Amino acid sequence: MAERLALFATTARGTEDLLAEELKELGARRIRQDRGGVRFMASLDEALKVCLWSRIAMRVLYPLGEFEAHGAEGLYEAVASVPWEEHLTPDTTFAVEATLKDSEHSHTGFVALKVKDAVVDRMRDKQGARPDVDPRNPDVRVVAHLVRERLSLSLDLCGEPLHRRGYRVRPTPAPLKETLAAALLRAAGYTGEEALVDPMCGSGTLLIEGGLIARRRAPGIARDFAVEKWPHLGARARELLEDLRADARRNERKVAVPILGFDKDPEALEAARRNVKAAKLAEEILLEEGDATKLPPLPASGGLLLTNPPYGDRLGSGGQKGMKSFYFKLGDSLRAQAGWRVWVLSGNPAFESAFHSRPRSRRDLWNGPIACTLLGYSARGGALTSEAPLGVAEDALDVAPVRPDDEGEEQR
Ligand SMILES: C[S@@+](CC[C@H](N)C(=O)[O-])C[C@H]1O[C@@H](n2cnc3c(N)ncnc32)[C@H](O)[C@@H]1O
Repeated sequence: MAERLALFATTARGTEDLLAEELKELGARRIRQDRGGVRFMASLDEALKVCLWSRIAMRVLYPLGEFEAHGAEGLYEAVASVPWEEHLTPDTTFAVEATLKDSEHSHTGFVALKVKDAVVDRMRDKQGARPDVDPRNPDVRVVAHLVRERLSLSLDLCGEPLHRRGYRVRPTPAPLKETLAAALLRAAGYTGEEALVDPMCGSGTLLIEGGLIARRRAPGIARDFAVEKWPHLGARARELLEDLRADARRNERKVAVPILGFDKDPEALEAARRNVKAAKLAEEILLEEGDATKLPPLPASGGLLLTNPPYGDRLGSGGQKGMKSFYFKLGDSLRAQAGWRVWVLSGNPAFESAFHSRPRSRRDLWNGPIACTLLGYSARGGALTSEAPLGVAEDALDVAPVRPDDEGEEQR
């Protein structure tokens, strides 16, 4: 395996630039944004640092090659041409994960099976014995991505995707992925030096990710990585990770800013409490039952208010009309928080006009399959009267001058 590895880190679409920025900070080189991810070069040490420290990447892949693969036979031949004996031994367990896009094959299971057969046959040919498949906890995870007839094969350095930090012990109906929450915090310029509030915190993801940033805690500190079990790199990776983990633990610091969450659903709040506790941030994050449309005045010293309100009619308040009226009230409530930067991730196209403020910054991105917009505002502390007609509330557009943190958002 080369000294410097050519790697590909995946991320939610629309956040590639944020990941590229983070990878640069982590020491990656020759960084190139691609759709849904970022290509980069890194030594093993740097690659492990990315696994341990990237807050935004979902996976870190080691691409083995790209192939034209026509039909089931072509798929088998392409996979069998890879020198698997350089990455596996007969004692290594492995699993194959397949994803398809516009492919002649309609079942990922079929593609994964073909890939597995080709790997096993090649190993039997070259080594006289075959490795076993372990779908749950494999030593080596092979990722096969087939777009039309173009097959990419990679090994996943992390194993479980990086959003599995290990703290989500109690989910709620629409939680953000931990990695997406971290991307939103970066987009909003959160560095852990200012107060953070999520008035609709659900399971607490934004607050926990903010808490990890403020604590300077490595997001992957509580988990291990597949590369530690790779036959040819595992021993070296374990050694390097031991040092990286020890450094990370040494450099944690106390959280010096308030982090507050509200939700009006007691069950969501209970889930948030459990997750916060599992993340070992129970002392740093304060949670209270509360209605975001009637938010109490937050400290005038200001900070970041970041939230993702419901996109659809979970409120039972009359379909899209009810949602618009909810967003309108939310606009009043959040704008009243003088000195706060207000950032909202919305997946409902009606949000922006109903919220009746002109955003200072905007970013389109994907929350799983949902097209969303991240909107950044600066509250000036003057609530609109709720009688103001939707769409013509011109004085509501009179937001405070943009702070340096907000500038440059378009370039990110
Ligand atoms: C899309 S979820 C937020 C998910 C959260 N970011 C997470 O990662 O788990 C929206 C949340 O808003 C809460 N909510 C809805 N209306 C609210 C209101 N008026 N005040 C406070 N919370 C509200 C819901 O209970 C739900 O937990």
